[in-house]
Amino acid sequence: MIDKVEHIPVLLDEVINALSLTKNEIYVDATFGLGGYSSAILNKQNCKVIAIDRDPLAKIFADNLKKSFTDRFYFKNGKFSELDKFLNELNIYKVDGVVFDLGVSSPQLDTKDRGFSFKLDGPLDMRMSCDGPTAEEFLDKVEENTLANIIFELGEEVFSKRIAKNIILERSVGKIRTTGQLAKIIRDAIPIKHSKTDPATKTFQAIRIYLNDEITELEQGLIAAEKVLRPKGKLAVVSFHSIEDRIVKKFFLNCLNNKSLSRHLPELPKKEPSLEILTKKPILPSKREINFNYRSRSAKLRIARRTSYNSSFGEIK
Ligand SMILES: C[S@@+](CC[C@H](N)C(=O)[O-])C[C@H]1O[C@@H](n2cnc3c(N)ncnc32)[C@H](O)[C@@H]1O
Repeated sequence: MIDKVEHIPVLLDEVINALSLTKNEIYVDATFGLGGYSSAILNKQNCKVIAIDRDPLAKIFADNLKKSFTDRFYFKNGKFSELDKFLNELNIYKVDGVVFDLGVSSPQLDTKDRGFSFKLDGPLDMRMSCDGPTAEEFLDKVEENTLANIIFELGEEVFSKRIAKNIILERSVGKIRTTGQLAKIIRDAIPIKHSKTDPATKTFQAIRIYLNDEITELEQGLIAAEKVLRPKGKLAVVSFHSIEDRIVKKFFLNCLNNKSLSRHLPELPKKEPSLEILTKKPILPSKREINFNYRSRSAKLRIARRTSYNSSFGEIK
């Protein structure tokens, strides 16, 4: 059950401006959520929107939007790393803009049964797509060193070893089943508590990113977007933590300089830039937006424009 069905779209005006919406063009909303961006795009311009979300519950909100924009709106429940494949299924090979609004939506975070929040006590789930192992299953099997590395790398948590040790210790007494239990174990493992941020924040972030394979998803999603963008098409990405933002920044630079995206991908042969960077520094929410929507406080928007040179990753058609 969804406890709260509200999500205030972050940096909405800035994202809409970035896309330079034009009549009859096609835009991809790669992270539909509750449809804040899709709805704003469809209301502002007589264009088409192809929306994607891996959360099966997003379909409820998509079905609602479909009632108002029958021919101009299409929703696919799936991962954005496959967005080029989804477009191909619709016989669409090029689009005019792609937007990503990364992370979790407010209903995901505010629904205790989804198990994303350390503020609410619910089952330890944390799966965006509602498939694969839950956080409970993962924590029941993971080795201490592996867990410490995940917490350090994906949460940038300096107390990663102490937290991992505490989790493994508690696990030997009994299964860790709830977000409340996990949050307490993490809080107890951290020696100094002088920050305003809850000590469980970084570890919850790390486990969520790991379980949902968010790093690979982001890298593959950006590649797929670059491949499907028409020349002059815009790529707008809103991220919420430094790990995501670094990947986006590096991806833009690599498409400008044609270098390999990450250690997982082969070095790209030297050729012309496939992206032009439009934001030297990321666009941040105004004080007014942060006052109105506190969750926007860590958002960063980066925008790039596709050049007319070949894709850095191979054309799709
Ligand atoms: C911050 S919310 C988007 C909110 C949306 N812009 C709105 O205004 O309602 C992020 C959404 O992206 C989805 N998501 C995250 N990673 C995804 C992925 N790899 N593929 C598809 N959807 C993803 C989540 O399920 C979530 O609904």
